Amino acid sequence: MSPVVPHAGSFFHSFIKLLPANRMKLALINIKQLVTVPSNGIRVKTGKDMSSLGCIENAAILVENDHITWIGRMEDLSMSSLGETDVLDCLDRVVMPGFVDSHTHLVFAGSREEEFAMRSAGASYREIAERGGGILSTVQKVRETPKKDLKKNARRWMNAMLQQGTTTVEIKSGYGLDTDNEIKLLEAIRELDREEMMTVVSTFLGAHAIPPEYRDNRTAYIDTILNKMLPYIGSKKLASFCDVFCEEGYFTIEESRSILLQGKQFGLLPKIHAEELSALGGAELAAEVAAVSADHLEHITDAGIAALAHAGVVAALLPGVSFFLNHSYAPARKLIDAGVPVALASDFNPGSCMTYSMPLVMTIACTQMRMSPEEAITASTFNAAAALNLSHERGSIEIGKKADVLILDIPDYRYLPYHFGQNHVEKVVKDGVVLEF
Ligand code: NIG
Ligand code: FE
Repeated sequence: MSPVVPHAGSFFHSFIKLLPANRMKLALINIKQLVTVPSNGIRVKTGKDMSSLGCIENAAILVENDHITWIGRMEDLSMSSLGETDVLDCLDRVVMPGFVDSHTHLVFAGSREEEFAMRSAGASYREIAERGGGILSTVQKVRETPKKDLKKNARRWMNAMLQQGTTTVEIKSGYGLDTDNEIKLLEAIRELDREEMMTVVSTFLGAHAIPPEYRDNRTAYIDTILNKMLPYIGSKKLASFCDVFCEEGYFTIEESRSILLQGKQFGLLPKIHAEELSALGGAELAAEVAAVSADHLEHITDAGIAALAHAGVVAALLPGVSFFLNHSYAPARKLIDAGVPVALASDFNPGSCMTYSMPLVMTIACTQMRMSPEEAITASTFNAAAALNLSHERGSIEIGKKADVLILDIPDYRYLPYHFGQNHVEKVVKDGVVLEF
């Protein structure tokens, strides 16, 4: 038998790390179409290369422990030499890399369906925030919720995400907005990474909003981020990235710059929520501070596009937000044509995008931003891994890479964004472990 993690009895079951002591060899055979998304030795894909998926028909994959050791055609695989290898017959399914969701806020408490109803009745995201809803309403709930309950909620989302093919996720803090609560969130995120099957990457987003107690003294809050939160988070290695919501009414360009540069001093690489509601120049700032990714970009200017292309910053687009808030979409075609590496992510959070479905995000990217299915797949796997500085080990099916692999009950990869609202993931292999749902 293959090293199977015990059956997930219910939606609330979570895939905790119960790895067999000696993981065996695993062969995935009879793959009708293997989508490899080959890196060809580069860090991130741009332009036409985003369309090259490296498909192999009638293929097989060999895995040893957690990584891929061979890929090729079935006819080149000698079944008799497999020996002790566990065999997973893919029964002529499509196989592709697991999704990397490079932008989420998934550790939160409560939900905000009343805001959804208010927007249906005509209120805007900004108006709701100004009336005391929005980010600050979730902050209040998170402050009242113990870490163990935040983790319980998060596990529930993560289990559902894994079943829908997300094998790596980035999670941001930013619903604590004081030192103790931001640390509570980052510790929860770190513990989830250690305890769950999914690979979790942590981002500090203390600059998500000005908390109510600092409404009349924003410089004091920014000073706390710079001189209290960042030194502590850096010393405890509680986050890989530092992010800022650079937006009118949230954090200015100057404030964002000082926070991202201070983050760098403490070993946190910059990311930025940029040009979401207005064109403020966050994209240019991302290029200036050599951010790993600039996210949102619905209102990016031509100058901003040129700056990202020149600096090689990944544009992480979040079309689920535009769909959910009925806002405009980021100019994906212009970005790709200008040579900016584009990734897709969900932005899963209770306010602006209540979905973690990467296939749905891909469908919206194809229909509303005119990305091709090939580009959407590259943007959700390899380029998304690059948005987390992980493309050397995840996001593609190549020898030496971690075995994060999806088996999909579809006839062709283009069927995935085409038939939306349905989970086509039949099995997930995570770090070489076959998960049974
Ligand atoms: O990425 N833009 C800022 N932050 C989130 C929204 C968070 C919320 O509304 O709770 C976002 O869209
Ligand atoms: Fe976000």
